[in-house]
Formats: sequence, structure tokens, C-alpha cells
Amino acid sequence: DWTPDSFVETTVQELKDKLGNDKVVLGLSGGVDSTVAGVLLHKAIGKNLTCIFVDNGLLRKNEFEAVLDSYKHMGLNVIGVDAKKEFLSELDGVSDPETKRKIIGRVFIEVFDAEAHKIQDVKWLAQGTIYPDVIESVSVNGPSATIKSHHNVGGLPEEMNLKVVEPLNLLFKDEVRRVGRAMGIDENLLGRHPFPGPGLAIRILGDITAEKVALLQEVDHIFIQGLKDNNLYDQVWQAGAMLLPVQSVGVMGDERTYEKVVALRAVTSTDGMTADWVHLPYDFLAKVSNDIINKVKGVNRVVYDISSKPPATIEWE
Ligand code: XMP
Repeated sequence: DWTPDSFVETTVQELKDKLGNDKVVLGLSGGVDSTVAGVLLHKAIGKNLTCIFVDNGLLRKNEFEAVLDSYKHMGLNVIGVDAKKEFLSELDGVSDPETKRKIIGRVFIEVFDAEAHKIQDVKWLAQGTIYPDVIESVSVNGPSATIKSHHNVGGLPEEMNLKVVEPLNLLFKDEVRRVGRAMGIDENLLGRHPFPGPGLAIRILGDITAEKVALLQEVDHIFIQGLKDNNLYDQVWQAGAMLLPVQSVGVMGDERTYEKVVALRAVTSTDGMTADWVHLPYDFLAKVSNDIINKVKGVNRVVYDISSKPPATIEWE
């Protein structure tokens, strides 16, 4: 029978046999899959695993520092790469969603590749691919066909002559979480909502600037922290905020304002393929809306997305 403990035991042994004394590189994203893959590999080969965690400048507020810290606490040999400037400058002036995704995917590979080349004698590229990713990459339906293009470090294995190892590729998400729990990974990491590879870039409709990223990080932080403080976070599959490319009229004192609009989205889902909007309590939404408008300069209107998928997607781009 499959149990998380027996999976850990057999997989660690298999990885030891397969990898021997070889060096392995793995990209960490802060997400559940790559984290569990990293800890499994670390158990098997210790310091022969080098993890690379790239800050693309499009993560949630304080996310990079916090997650890098937890990785170090878990004993992982992890290199944090600050590539914020590269990503932002390559994205400068770009509004088309698919172009943004392509740029982010390309810059990620460039940054990852440069770091990986610094590791002497690396033989393997590890990936946190799980079973649904394997299926997804062979099906071609809409945006999901490009979903993993960022995580999947395509091109790198051939160019660097790396072999690929994917210890989670027969598991479903809930099994990955159970395996993570069995290895003692923090619930804060295991219970995290999914977050898209291109990050806030696809939640800023239109072109991206450092100011817009900073503004959306504040809005998102108030919303997500609010969900956590009110015990709503675990009832939601994914949540986030979108910065809309419109301004709307408001009033402050005797003055009219003309400022930004943000949309909040929270959904329940099992696999992201279909989703329902969450009926968050009105008083919670009221409080979050007030907090955002009072604390985030430049925002004078908050709306809540009440569309289900299909036909609306979870992300707005
Ligand atoms: P949609 O918006 O298609 O999203 O309903 C379904 C799930 O996929 C995530 N998503 C992405 N993940 N790269 C990713 O890694 C992407 O380009 C991308 N686009 C959407 C989305 O956050 C949701 O979990």
C-alpha cells in the first residue's frame, strides 16, 4: 500500500542508487512541488544537491526573503539570485500577456543557466514535475498548454548535457503534500496557494513598472494576510489581486480623485481546470477594501471578481 513514509523511504533509496556521487541542480520556486522535491533529494544526496531560487521581482511582498530563509533552515544548499532588474528591464513596455510569459520564461532560463554553469561537474537537472504536469504537457487546451513553460527549464538539459530526474512525477498534489508532511516540512510551505510562474506580471494588466509591482504587492499582502488572520486562507484554493489598466473617479474631502482600480479574486478548485468564486463574508470584504484604499496610495476603488471558470479563467491575463 502507498503511504507517504514508504514513498519517502523507497524514493530516497532509488535516488541514492541512481545519482551516486553525482551533482544535481534544482530550481526552487517557493511552491509545494519544488520544495518537496528539494527536501527529498537533499535527504538522498545532501550537499551534492544545489538549489537555485530566482527572485524575478514579481513575487509576493517579502516572499523571496521569507522563503529563502525557510529553505536555509531546512538545511538546503540554496543559492538565491536577485534578478529583479533583468526581468523588469526585459519586460519594459510589454503589454501582451503571452509575450510577457515568453520573456519571463526566457529570462528565467538565462539566469538559471548562468548559475548552473557555476556548479562544477553538474550531471543532473532535477524538477518538481508532478503527474498532472506530465499529462498537461501532452494536452493542448488553451492557456494550460503554456502553464508550465516557465518551471520546466526547457533547453537547458540538452545544452548542458544534463540528465533529468523527476522524483515526484507519479504523484498527485495531495500526495506531494502528504510526502512533504511526512518529511516534516513546515505547514506554511505545504499549505501555500498555487502561484503562477510569471507571478504578478500577469496580474498587472498592461505594461509593468516597478511602481505598479510595489503597489500590487501591498494590495495583495493586505488581502492574503486578511485571509490568514480570519481563518479563511485554507478554505480558498487560490487568491490574489489584479491591477487594472483603468482609473476611476473618486472623492476625497472636496477633491475629485482619478486613481487606480484593483480587483480581488478568490476561488475554490481541485486542479485549476474549473473554479468557483468564493463567497467571502461581506464584512471581511468590506474591511479588506477599506484597508486597501486607506493604506495603498493610488488606489481608490476595489472590486471583487464573482466569475466562475469556465468561462472566466482564474487569472485575468
Ligand atoms: P487560469 O488563469 O488559466 O489558471 O484559469 C489556472 C491555473 O494556472 C495558473 N497559471 C499559470 N501558472 N504559468 C504558471 O506557472 C502561467 O503562465 C500561468 N497562467 C495561469 C493560475 O495561477 C491558476 O493556478
